[in-house]
Amino acid sequence: MIGDKKVLFSGMQATGSLTLGNYLGALKNWVALSEEYECFYSVVDLHSITVRQDPAELRKKARNLLMLYIAAGIDPEKNCLYYQSHASAHCELAWILDCFTYMGELNRMTQFKDKSAKHADNINAGLFTYPVLMAADILLYQADVVPVGKDQLQHLELTRDIANRFNSIYGDVFTIPEPYLGKAGAKIMSLQDPSKKMSKSDENPNASIYLTDDKDTIIRKFKRAVTDSDSAIRYDVENKPGVSNLIEIYGAVTNKSFEEVEKEFEGKGYGDFKLAVGEAVADILEPLHVRFAELSADKAYIDKIIKENGEKADYYSKKTLRKVQKKVGFPERIR
Ligand code: TYM
Repeated sequence: MIGDKKVLFSGMQATGSLTLGNYLGALKNWVALSEEYECFYSVVDLHSITVRQDPAELRKKARNLLMLYIAAGIDPEKNCLYYQSHASAHCELAWILDCFTYMGELNRMTQFKDKSAKHADNINAGLFTYPVLMAADILLYQADVVPVGKDQLQHLELTRDIANRFNSIYGDVFTIPEPYLGKAGAKIMSLQDPSKKMSKSDENPNASIYLTDDKDTIIRKFKRAVTDSDSAIRYDVENKPGVSNLIEIYGAVTNKSFEEVEKEFEGKGYGDFKLAVGEAVADILEPLHVRFAELSADKAYIDKIIKENGEKADYYSKKTLRKVQKKVGFPERIR
């Protein structure tokens, strides 16, 4: 708790272009929860370098991502939006937690397996211990709740295991976090191959809607989305994965249930439905584009947010870190 509020932590990587999956699986829920909780939303730049990055590009993308958090509707005066690299406690706690995490646990992480297959020439130790840094992110702020998409649930389960293990040795040090999944949109699939998740790193640009896409591009991509030969608009992931993904997207964007969506498009064809999905998505992204452009023009304001929120994150994260250091037996600082 901070004051009388429960704590929320979440983060996103500033690599590639953000997709509609990131928006519906995470960012949209972040906005909705941001009044109720004391929130820490990090741009996780430490995580980004597990894959090679161009330095100038990474800096630019990190700043754009922070502005996108604000453009999406998170108030940076009330919520802590910050760069992970500006709070050094993340690395320090990650090291300690490394010593409480088993190789076998990390070996089981599906994201590690996927990423090492994709980057076979650079399977570095950071890629392997990535979930421990993520655990440190969450536990440093004593987060009660962590809104994520489905693909992060395994990492969250590991975070809980590490925290429970640590608490069982040293007493109640960490709050055990709960995942938060939205009602719809927790796993948005590729528009070109609905058996794969929509991903920033997909090589086919038609597979993903990027948050920067304009209306024409969005509508064109939905028109080309893979569906099936039967023309019914019915939610059935097994037999109609493409259409079900579109229903999921439309439902998440309009806050309608799958049944409501099916009813709305009863007797209509895929053409009408795809157009409606495209328009609904373009409509929610349009204000985000406008706000993002305004924020980009206000360097001083963004700099102020970065400075103040970086200090706030540093303060809260160090508080937990000091407690942990003491528990494991590091000598006290002499002042
Ligand atoms: P990242 O940057 O890959 O994704 C950010 C968020 O977007 C969600 N997401 C999706 N949701 C629905 N459908 C999709 N197709 C889709 N693709 C991505 C992700 O689940 C995530 O919530 N390791 C994390 C970042 C991280 C983090 C943390 C998250 C670092 N530390 C602590 C929570 C708490 C990652 O790489 O997310």
